[in-house]
Amino acid sequence: MAGSVAMNPVVLVHGGASSEIPQDLEERLRQGVVRAATAGYKVLKEGGRALDAVEAAVTILEDDPEFNAGHGAVLNAEGTVEMDASIMDGRDLSSGAVCAARCIANPIQLARLVMEKTPHCLLTSHGAAKFACAMGVPVIPGEQLITERNRQDLEKEKQKTDAETPSPQKNQGTVGAVALDSNGDVAYATSTGGLMNKMVGRVGDSPCVGSGGYADSAMGAVSSTGHGESILKVNLARLILFHVQQGKAVGEAADTALGYMKSKVKGEGGVIVVSNAGDWAAKWTTESMPWAAAQDGKVHFGLHRDEARVFSLP
Ligand code: GLY
Repeated sequence: MAGSVAMNPVVLVHGGASSEIPQDLEERLRQGVVRAATAGYKVLKEGGRALDAVEAAVTILEDDPEFNAGHGAVLNAEGTVEMDASIMDGRDLSSGAVCAARCIANPIQLARLVMEKTPHCLLTSHGAAKFACAMGVPVIPGEQLITERNRQDLEKEKQKTDAETPSPQKNQGTVGAVALDSNGDVAYATSTGGLMNKMVGRVGDSPCVGSGGYADSAMGAVSSTGHGESILKVNLARLILFHVQQGKAVGEAADTALGYMKSKVKGEGGVIVVSNAGDWAAKWTTESMPWAAAQDGKVHFGLHRDEARVFSLP
């Protein structure tokens, strides 16, 4: 590239901020985020754009039944799956999203089509379904997205008495990715089934630009996870980039904004952040969050607070 230095590409993914992950699930979640980060990194190393990398990574996590997005999305109060997703290109702030989408395998791909093929940013359930049909996106039976674990979790949740605490933050396997490509551009993608036992039609932060994610190549990119209503109230993703704009390092910016969300609205969550200089951070206020980052031929990953492992890609 004449006149500019190629950036060192990086991609980060998360598999949802969570308060209780069954031990037998932990290793599968680690493997899932590592697989997604590795795939996103391959796209970047082959000269692909940040936008392509985040879409590829999130598609893998949507297809993985262990995460709360696409196949494996949690069930709403009527026992059906309604999914939210959004994607944003930091080059020019173009963005696309779908919410309360049903009966498609990969909401993130439909969000990208909204971005690229319509003059709009967000399509809701019925409109999203009509648009998917017009774009030739296959309709699949909603049942195909449902796992036995999610069916049982909903049943258990519904059997709880009023005296027992409902688990509004349980089963948080929202997925997301952020990337910086060798041109210096950033992007984010976020996808979720939302909260288990949510009201029909409830929409969270994930399809909302500024809350569920943000990407601006002048600053960096963020993908959020956690309690959607809290994330919406503080515009979590844009708030983090505001702190980055003000000169904070990415990790400090994430901690500051997550801390604000906790003290102001008692909301918990997690984020992945990459700056346009290639600095990155994965932060959360819940107990754990599976995450992985690929940069310089290495994959870093973890799930618990004190855990940071690394291996070199072949
Ligand atoms: N953070 C995902 C949701 O609340 O829907």
